[in-house]
Amino acid sequence: MFINVQRTHSLRSYEGESGPMAIVVGEGHPVGEGGDTRARYQRLADWTRQVLPVAEITHHWSTHDHQSIDHVPYIGRLSPVSKHLYVATGFGGWGMTTGTVAGLLLRDLILGRENPWAEVFAPNRVNLAGTRDLMRLTFTIGKHWVGDRLRRQPPELAIGEGKVVAATHGQIALYRDEQGEMHAHSATCTHMGCVLQFNGAEKSWDCPCHGSRFSAIDGRVLHGPALEALARRELDEIEEVRKAG
Ligand code: FES
Repeated sequence: MFINVQRTHSLRSYEGESGPMAIVVGEGHPVGEGGDTRARYQRLADWTRQVLPVAEITHHWSTHDHQSIDHVPYIGRLSPVSKHLYVATGFGGWGMTTGTVAGLLLRDLILGRENPWAEVFAPNRVNLAGTRDLMRLTFTIGKHWVGDRLRRQPPELAIGEGKVVAATHGQIALYRDEQGEMHAHSATCTHMGCVLQFNGAEKSWDCPCHGSRFSAIDGRVLHGPALEALARRELDEIEEVRKAG
């Protein structure tokens, strides 16, 4: 596996059924804040062609890479009073390595053994190193929570496009699928109420606050922390607002 110093790209190879394949990772961004995701895939493809003799780009997908505020994973008891509840998360792209660390550390915690790394990875540690990032993140969440409610978009949609539009009550996440059919759901994230953003490459509704993602077709949860699907909404609600001017 290769990774560059700024960590904007990584490369790994494997033997596919039809010959050697490469997995190229890059163009990372906070969920719901990536802008045009299709343009990101294009840039990634362009970069790959510069560094490898590419015959064909066969697949692309987006996934989450959870990261803690101080960039050290959370591994250990979920809270100081948890007796039987453990957590291992925030691997920040280093899951093969820190997943193994988590296995060793959680084994020791469960068996009541001393482990010198327990304190480093403790999920309830206080680490002032991340305070500035935490404040910035909190500000960003607040900005989305309030600011995104003020958007007003016209409901005209091209094939494969999605927009958040005003409705009689709240806002609607509107998507026109490849067959031209419209799908309307609540644009409010079922986790804590932030307004969703459309992801044009993955055809999903993505939350800029804590990263939940929902299907643009049926509103089901693709990725937590949200647990509930988006509520369906009626297209008439948008029409009423348009008529009212
Ligand atoms: S408000 Fe959407 S993930 Fe938290």
